[in-house]
Amino acid sequence: MSDYRRIKIDQAAAHVGEPVEIAGWLYNLRKSGKIIFPLVRDGSGIIQGVAVKANIPVEVFEMLKDLTQESSLILRGKLRAEARAVGGYELDVEQALLVQAVPLETPYPITPKEHGIDFLMDHRHLWLRSRRQHAILRVRHEIVKAIRDYFDSNGFTLVDTPIFTPAACEGTTNLFEVNYFDEEKLYLTQSGQLYNEATAMAFGNVYCFGPTFRAEKSKTRRHLTEFWMVEPEMAYATLEDVKRVAEELICFIVGRVLENRKPELATLERDLSKLESIKPPFPRMTYDDAVKILQAKGSEIVWGGDFGGTDETLLGEDFDRPLMVDRYPAEVKAFYFEPDPERPEVVLGVDVLASEGYGEVIGGGQRVYELDVLERRLADHGLPREAFEWYLDLRRFGGVPHAGFGMGVERAVAWLCGIEHIRETIAFPRMLNRARP
Ligand code: 4AD
Ligand code: MG
Repeated sequence: MSDYRRIKIDQAAAHVGEPVEIAGWLYNLRKSGKIIFPLVRDGSGIIQGVAVKANIPVEVFEMLKDLTQESSLILRGKLRAEARAVGGYELDVEQALLVQAVPLETPYPITPKEHGIDFLMDHRHLWLRSRRQHAILRVRHEIVKAIRDYFDSNGFTLVDTPIFTPAACEGTTNLFEVNYFDEEKLYLTQSGQLYNEATAMAFGNVYCFGPTFRAEKSKTRRHLTEFWMVEPEMAYATLEDVKRVAEELICFIVGRVLENRKPELATLERDLSKLESIKPPFPRMTYDDAVKILQAKGSEIVWGGDFGGTDETLLGEDFDRPLMVDRYPAEVKAFYFEPDPERPEVVLGVDVLASEGYGEVIGGGQRVYELDVLERRLADHGLPREAFEWYLDLRRFGGVPHAGFGMGVERAVAWLCGIEHIRETIAFPRMLNRARP
């Protein structure tokens, strides 16, 4: 008896003609008289087995014949290149071991037929096994890896920031409150930025990368209540540095996704030309000009207002690559933005609006570093000074111009995958109306 070597389906190319073993789950089953074609997935890919009645033990044939979807099994046999097959290879089955059969009377709930979104979201723990979800989350992994590689190879030190925080960073209206010990109230972090500003003064260029929380009452296709954000922060840096790094980061990520995730993009039927056109330089415009363009397009925006999702889509649709809009009115931005010295009513902040109408993926800019200005901004925003004393220290002990930004991972994933809704970009999404499973 030959020895079967356990391989992953995505390693098939290296083992053509060899006896191998594939451990997975039954994705689909086709029968044609005396031949059974079990389609098996193992997390790395999908492969079709070919089980010919005459070539395998009778009990193996019987077992495979009625096997239910998502039953776990191990197939053994020899690999063959087959251009017409999914993935390009087939397994000529010699043996098969059943690990666990899904009972006939309680079949796997997700079938190839159409299911409503609520049903699928209720079964998210199983839905993750489908090809589309699998492809999206593999692209997500690639994006996360690319983000880390970009910062790690460009002189940024990873310094992660706390999730329990005593103060608001992005406004007080969307904070999740938690009971800490002895009835002390803390909040789930909205952003690691304030802590990044401290670590940037210690390490120069830093980034944090973790989950952040917003008690957003908005039920849009772009909002989660728990999302992952990568946030670089740079000492001795300006708004222009933010734009340069944001542009480089996005192009680096897109390059990696195109390089390594073409099969997944094909599964998602992504138009690759849309990704290939994401190249520097990205167009840049001021908030003032953006408002004029929006008004000409029929938006009701007036100078001083923040852009809604529709405005962002309208602005972005004229370009085949991301658009950078800078110098927003101070009123619509957080307390920490540095006012433009030439026009204090606007701040040195930039939003990067993704192409194809995906809206804001990056927000950031230059921070106030003068003590008196910051004290005034805190007061104007009605923020409790005690909670920010440590943050004010950064302006007492060697404050310098510094800048940074945040990119929401899920927004980037939705955009690069070309999918409609952010709920599919994270394994277990948390939204206004959904915190289960
Ligand atoms: O523009 P935001 O709120 O900026 C900050 O939090 C800054 N403190 C970041 C910084 O300068 N260090 O959020 C940054 C990005 C947005 O552009 C968006 O991609 C994402 O985070 N984001 C969300 N993603 C999903 N769901 C939400 N509710 C999001 N809110 C923001
Ligand atoms: Mg923003």
